[in-house]
Amino acid sequence: MQMQPQTQQQTQHPQDWTSALEHEARTLVEALDRHPEARRLFDGSTDTAGYAAWLAQTYHYVRWTTPLLARAGARLKRLGRHPVLAELLLQKSSEEQGHERWLLADLKNLGWTREQVERFELRPAVAAYVAWNRFTAEAGSPTAFLGTAYVLEYLSVYRAGQAVERLLQRDAIPNIRKAVTFLRGHAGADEAHVEELAAVLRLLTDPEEQAAILLSARTTRALYAGMFPEQERRARAS
Ligand SMILES: [Fe+2]
Ligand SMILES: [Fe+2]
Repeated sequence: MQMQPQTQQQTQHPQDWTSALEHEARTLVEALDRHPEARRLFDGSTDTAGYAAWLAQTYHYVRWTTPLLARAGARLKRLGRHPVLAELLLQKSSEEQGHERWLLADLKNLGWTREQVERFELRPAVAAYVAWNRFTAEAGSPTAFLGTAYVLEYLSVYRAGQAVERLLQRDAIPNIRKAVTFLRGHAGADEAHVEELAAVLRLLTDPEEQAAILLSARTTRALYAGMFPEQERRARAS
């Protein structure tokens, strides 16, 4: 299919589309603030089981971030489109390197073995997240992962630091001081990452690419709350 040339209107208002992206991310933060399990993570009142389950689910998608970003970047480069975005995908791939090890270290300090983490049953939302991002990286629009990254990094900026602070204040989880590496690592870095991402994406005027990035942002928003173990925990407690 022939790509549409950028329209006059879009070049006059290049920032409009990134406010749609920000809307997706902000809507997720608001939804999680209303979600019982997410709220317990953010206000530090979660228990060991709830926190460890969230870390383990997170591990099962974060382990794919570096390879999938690398595949997306390499594929975009091969396609010869948007070289700046291809570089950004590759840069983000190396930025994310080793973050799954933070999760394993945090879980180890909560008493989980590597085997327990690996065997932990993926929630459907996590499986769907991994499958979706693998599809866009390998066969769909490779820039789409930037929409996923934007939403997750935005969430870190607004909630990761707060979660660390409150978890440490409450001190309800044994060894919590040694189990917040993943949250702390993202609280520190993601403000600059979101700004950089927004600055680059603001210059993107191709409507098809914008749509692909927005779709991945929306998909991430739709799936993220499903990574929390709400129903199972309630059922066990009753
Ligand atoms: Fe990360
Ligand atoms: Fe980041």
